[in-house]
Amino acid sequence: MNIVVGVTGGIAAYKTVQLVRGLVLEGHEVHVVPTEDALRFVGTPTWEAISRHPVTTSVHEGVDVVRHVALGQEADLVVVAPATANTLAAMAAGLASDLLGTTLLATEAPVLVAPAMHTQMWRHPATQANLRTLRERGVHVIGPEDGALTGGDSGLGRMTEPDDILHAALALLEGGDDLAGLRVVVTAGGTREPIDPVRFIGNRSSGRQGVAVARAAADRGAQVVLIGAHLDEVVGADAIHPRIERRSAGTAAELGAAVSAAATDADVVVMAAAVADYRPESVADRKRTKRETPLRTLTLVETDDITAALVAARRAGQTIVGFAAETPDDSETLVERARHKRARKGLDLIAANEVGWEKGFERPDNTLVIVDAADRVVAEASGSKREVADALWDAIVAVRGAGS
Ligand code: CTP
Repeated sequence: MNIVVGVTGGIAAYKTVQLVRGLVLEGHEVHVVPTEDALRFVGTPTWEAISRHPVTTSVHEGVDVVRHVALGQEADLVVVAPATANTLAAMAAGLASDLLGTTLLATEAPVLVAPAMHTQMWRHPATQANLRTLRERGVHVIGPEDGALTGGDSGLGRMTEPDDILHAALALLEGGDDLAGLRVVVTAGGTREPIDPVRFIGNRSSGRQGVAVARAAADRGAQVVLIGAHLDEVVGADAIHPRIERRSAGTAAELGAAVSAAATDADVVVMAAAVADYRPESVADRKRTKRETPLRTLTLVETDDITAALVAARRAGQTIVGFAAETPDDSETLVERARHKRARKGLDLIAANEVGWEKGFERPDNTLVIVDAADRVVAEASGSKREVADALWDAIVAVRGAGS
């Protein structure tokens, strides 16, 4: 396949040499398009040697073959690594001031950017607004990561390691759209059940896994409604995608109503949200105070089971998938609990994961055991939350295929 690698002016450019080499070794034709600034960090001979193609930054070369648009038109994928704050701004504005700019405007291929910059530049509202714009247009963003930055600083802004960018690039090339035409509802995050206007009963779910499930579905062609319950803002940014419609719900009751409404025309519903099992029987209108309205005992009532309502109203051909976050003694107990929970709830599939003080929550990785309606473990996936999300969709596709 034809891949354009745009390199912009950051020190991480030296790591992109390894990315280009990886893509070439995978058998791809790689055209490197550096910006003038990028060449101050790594020069033309390196890019030409490693990509095995001539390299230029100018729109005035190769005019006979209309190179300034041909590169983009012929690309199957464009990767920009590192992507500086300036480049993200230029991309968001659609600037065509150099060969990389014209290539990005001329391409209809997927675009993957790997930002790299100092933490303050990354956090600046201008950079974040540009990123939002790019994501809304369907640009894929990988990283940045937390770690050492140039000049001895450390923080968010370090470019993702070249092997991980390579992985993401290859996944986009293979990705295809096996979920095209599928209407999907995903819940993510954790509900909060209010006690009074300032307090609530909640849980530790950040929504990372649910957002990864929604994002994977959208990347694979599905039309997604993502219902978020108190999603972490940074986590939620990953769900900005032209095929993801965001809705939000605060309490279990609100989530139940939102899911029931969205599920009426859905092919697949994935309940990744952590839903409170209990809510305070009554909610105080005013903040309870230690002196006047002390609260030493809280009376709780059970919330409605959302999946139960979904299963009862299930339309023909609809697949309903649940999650089970458990704290088992061993992996057999995890699978046993998953089997019971799936059967008790009447789900088509259940994805079980182990959680604990140090496991599952607020982490980028996860391990899922996926159990089907015949009590079989159909997949055991370990890796980033995105990787396990893809494994879950593979299992959903298999179950739906087997049922049709
Ligand atoms: N769930 C739901 N409605 C609830 C509680 C949970 O739809 N009121 C869904 C979750 O989104 C998840 C699945 O059911 O997909 C399992 O959630 P979990 O909290 O593990 O199940 P519980 O029914 O609470 O079982 P237990 O308390 O026995 O673990």
